[in-house]
Amino acid sequence: MIIDWYPGHMKKARAQIVEVLPTIDLIIEVLDARLPVSSANPLLEKLRGAKPCIKVLNKKDLADPTVTKAWVGFFEQQQRVKAIPLEAKDRRDVGLLPKLCRTMAPNRGNKGQKPLRVMVVGIPNVGKSTLINTLAGKRMARVGDKPAITTCPQKIDLRNGILLSDTPGLLWPAMDDQAGACRLAASGAIGDNAFDPPDIALMTIEYLVGKYPALLLQGYQLTDLPENSTEILMEIGRRRGCLVKGGDVDLNRAAIQFLRDLRAGKLGRISLERPGEAPVPPGDSDSDESSL
Ligand code: G4P
Repeated sequence: MIIDWYPGHMKKARAQIVEVLPTIDLIIEVLDARLPVSSANPLLEKLRGAKPCIKVLNKKDLADPTVTKAWVGFFEQQQRVKAIPLEAKDRRDVGLLPKLCRTMAPNRGNKGQKPLRVMVVGIPNVGKSTLINTLAGKRMARVGDKPAITTCPQKIDLRNGILLSDTPGLLWPAMDDQAGACRLAASGAIGDNAFDPPDIALMTIEYLVGKYPALLLQGYQLTDLPENSTEILMEIGRRRGCLVKGGDVDLNRAAIQFLRDLRAGKLGRISLERPGEAPVPPGDSDSDESSL
């Protein structure tokens, strides 16, 4: 699997995080609610020390609510961590964050106190910019795929005692765990040209057969599920008109269509990992120089 991040890039981002952290009172780490472990980079847990952290389980509208609730419990077992599921474009959801920030860092941000300095971090595509824009009430955050922390980040005054960096801190996806990398690809966090769509679609279908068979049946109006993932993908291809001349299924197109349906939530609210199932929770890994 190819990915755009290279060691020099990661090293630079790491150095920038180390430099910026002392000027931050609270971290908002944006995760994808569908895959909160695979969409985290364990580096952050290692670097944050005792700094309070809010784990935003974003894109809750796409995730299985029962599983998301279980993730909140999972993360809140960690020291100085609160977790909150939300939809970054939803002002009501995002409106809950400032109060939570003040609860997490009670010595700042209240009347007569110094401002509470907050930074939003996460891997690409989890919704950092969307969240910053909703918090600020206007279009602020630059979206990009390069480590974007500057040594002197501009701050947005939210006028409620909170100063927010206008540039999201960019982490890179930890790609050393193959299953996690596949889930990231399925979620759309990794560009489609970095992987083989049928590989990712077949692995995802296998997972859905185990966890969400009814959604697969319903989503593609199937009466029963064919015997294996390839047959299911072929059937999806037929249903979605992904055919080549002569009527055979174009497996690549079928895979791309299936992944599109999944990411758009057309199959329903689906979580791609659950507490206890995920390989290595962030912060518990000893083997991650490759993810650092
Ligand atoms: P980033 O800064 O972390 O890289 O992520 P960004 O905010 O650019 O969001 C990445 C994509 O995720 C965007 O979609 C954005 O609309 C979508 N997104 C963010 N938050 C949520 C959410 O809570 N729910 C859902 N369903 N989607 C969310 P896009 O298609 O790349 O861009 P756009 O066409 O929406 O502008």
